[in-house]
Amino acid sequence: MERWKIWAIISLMSFALIGVAMSQIYWIKWSISLDQKNFTSKVFRALNEVRNKIDIEIKNIDIEFNSHNSDTLSSNTEATSEDWRESQILKETKSLEYSLNPDAFLEKLNPDKINQYVEEAFEQQGIDNDFIYGIYSNKKDDFLIVKDRTAINNPSNSDDELNLSELKNTKYKVSLLSTEFNSPGSLNLLFTGSSWSSKLPILLLNLIFTILILFVFSYTIYTIFKQKKISQMKTDFVNNMTHEFKTPIATISLATDSILSPVIFNDKEKIKKFINIIKEENSRLLNQVENVLQIAKLDKRKIELTLTETDVHEVLDETIQHLKLKLDSKSAKIIKDYQAIDPFIEADETHILNIFSNIIENAIKYSFDSPEITIRTNNFNGGIIVSIKDKGIGMSKEELNHIFDKFYRVSTGNVHNIKGFGLGLAYVKTFVEAHKAKIKVKSEKGVGTEFIIRFQKNVT
Ligand SMILES: Nc1ncnc2c1ncn2[C@@H]1O[C@H](COP(=O)(O)OP(=O)(O)OP(=O)(O)O)[C@@H](O)[C@H]1O
Ligand SMILES: [Mg+2]
Repeated sequence: MERWKIWAIISLMSFALIGVAMSQIYWIKWSISLDQKNFTSKVFRALNEVRNKIDIEIKNIDIEFNSHNSDTLSSNTEATSEDWRESQILKETKSLEYSLNPDAFLEKLNPDKINQYVEEAFEQQGIDNDFIYGIYSNKKDDFLIVKDRTAINNPSNSDDELNLSELKNTKYKVSLLSTEFNSPGSLNLLFTGSSWSSKLPILLLNLIFTILILFVFSYTIYTIFKQKKISQMKTDFVNNMTHEFKTPIATISLATDSILSPVIFNDKEKIKKFINIIKEENSRLLNQVENVLQIAKLDKRKIELTLTETDVHEVLDETIQHLKLKLDSKSAKIIKDYQAIDPFIEADETHILNIFSNIIENAIKYSFDSPEITIRTNNFNGGIIVSIKDKGIGMSKEELNHIFDKFYRVSTGNVHNIKGFGLGLAYVKTFVEAHKAKIKVKSEKGVGTEFIIRFQKNVT
């Protein structure tokens, strides 16, 4: 996929995600405000219900009186007119008294009855939040009754001072016993629990899903970039391989042409020289093919080790011997510092030779003229440490993170003209791990690189 397309997808997707998130926020806000309005109207319905009941309670004495009256009506007709008159007088006196001094009535309210009214009214409206309520007297400038519904659920809650001043200024209040002239007090109510608790689950769910979408989205983008990189690496690999194969094939073709030319055809010495070139190039080709095959094997995870008692020092010496031509051609210097007293480990000799060979080959390849390579060994309890250090071009931290990836090659600076497949260290890592050993790399750009491998004495 082309780069601009990936970025277009990222931008579109981000745009869509932001859009979804914004509309979610808007929707949640709207539903919360609707919820709030609904709640407020329910609270006031309940408060008004309580107020009505209190009003009726105040006038109740007369009603009771009247009903008592009507009960006795049939049995005692004479007493009735007397009682009725009495009741009328009482009612009028009371009504006068009430309009003149409503405070007195407010003070006489029965706390238990009010509590019952409140409980009933709020239950009817389906409000089960924690709250405190109180009967406030304007004349006294204080509460006559305060009841804490929260205390039933949460007895330790006693922020009384704070709550009372809040209760006084609450938005949930209705006037009590209002007359035409004034109102002696009010019924105030204050919610003490958090109003968020009911919305929390939905908000949390929203948050979780949004985070999930973001995560999946980022992962997808990450995968796209990773795949793109791998595909780029594979293309590089194919280019590299073709190039590596082309050189020996071209050389062989040139050598055979030369042999066939009449001038050389009769010169045995020259023919011998060209045949040697053909043989050398052929073995180079074979090596290349072997390399690719090995990696194909790695892919299938068919790692079989032939474990024997192996002398690491011996294998190192053998590796140096194998690389003699390469070392000489770049006039490389090898410094051996074998400090391990017990160099024997259980290992597959061929593979550890290849491991050392790959690392030393890199040390030669990625160094300036006349490389200097130090090979040091040390025993640690239960094994041997092999360190291969060069004073070459080195790598940055970011590059170090990838060197064990298949097909990875540092593609900047002067590494560009050095041939390779980016497979050597992938091989190293796979077989180091197969030996249950550990590999570590220290490197600094322009200073050098050190590969450190810790082999256990026994693999099994
Ligand atoms: N000693 C080193 N100093 C600096 N860079 C190194 C060193 N060893 C490895 N590298 C970097 O790590 C990359 C990967 O190394 P690796 O051996 O896997 O591949 P390669 O050498 O490019 O190809 P080949 O498959 O032929 O070994 C190299 O291309 C190089 O950029
Ligand atoms: Mg290499």
